[in-house]
Amino acid sequence: MIYTEMTYDRNATLEQTAPVLSKHSMNLVILGATGGTGLELVRRAVERGHSVTAFVRSPDRLKSFGERIHIEQGNLLDSAQLERVLKGHDAVVSGFGPRIPVSPADKHLLEQFARVLTGAMQRSAVRRAVVESVAFLFKDSIVPPVYILGKLLFPGIVADSAEMERILQGSGLDWTIVRPPQLTDKPYTGKYRVRHGHLPRFGFKIPRANVADYMIRAAEDRSTIGKIIGLAE
Ligand SMILES: NC(=O)c1ccc[n+]([C@@H]2O[C@H](COP(=O)([O-])OP(=O)(O)OC[C@H]3O[C@@H](n4cnc5c(N)ncnc54)[C@H](OP(=O)(O)O)[C@@H]3O)[C@@H](O)[C@H]2O)c1
Repeated sequence: MIYTEMTYDRNATLEQTAPVLSKHSMNLVILGATGGTGLELVRRAVERGHSVTAFVRSPDRLKSFGERIHIEQGNLLDSAQLERVLKGHDAVVSGFGPRIPVSPADKHLLEQFARVLTGAMQRSAVRRAVVESVAFLFKDSIVPPVYILGKLLFPGIVADSAEMERILQGSGLDWTIVRPPQLTDKPYTGKYRVRHGHLPRFGFKIPRANVADYMIRAAEDRSTIGKIIGLAE
């Protein structure tokens, strides 16, 4: 991994990563694995040599991975089901979130998810989680003013994401929260900026594939435990 300082953002590190094997293979449960970020999480985890269990409600979208991953079908919001799937794994990596546009029924989906996830992790003795949240929660970002924009345009997502983070942070588990700005479906570049506790300046967008790259590396890296990470291209 190469770390280089960007001239216009001295506090961010520029990651330039290649999809190579990790030194230590882990047993990962990937949640939201059929979503935009989730599919990239599965791809990146497999490329880095990890064993992947995807717990999904509709497995069809994962057909292309064939025998390379293990699929469990069920309801991840059912605490007992999630506990059973988690048992024996090293970590959870989540790209779970409400489908857009958010239906009234999903208003508190992330809060519910966090309660179920933290309970199931505690009971199954899986301590490590890397969870995707939203850059809207960076109150100190001026360019772009994500917190103000989020409160104005997506107040429901801001409130629900904040509640999810609050529950994770109070869980006593080994969490890492990753907050990207607007996600795109552009291809993986392995080149993106990372800032602990802040959004990288001028952090408007990032490809889902790069977010996934960072999240899998964060799962491997215990120094990210208890950190909130801002990412941007
Ligand atoms: N959109 C953005 O620009 C943006 C920006 C920053 C952060 N984020 C956050 O990043 C995360 C991932 O976003 P994304 O756009 O990559 O994801 P996405 O494509 O919307 O996928 C969401 C995933 O969550 C699953 N899911 C949703 N509701 C579910 C339920 N009730 N039960 C089981 N599974 C359920 C979906 O499963 P199915 O395939 O079965 O529906 C899918 O796998 C979200 O938390 C989002 O808030 C998004």
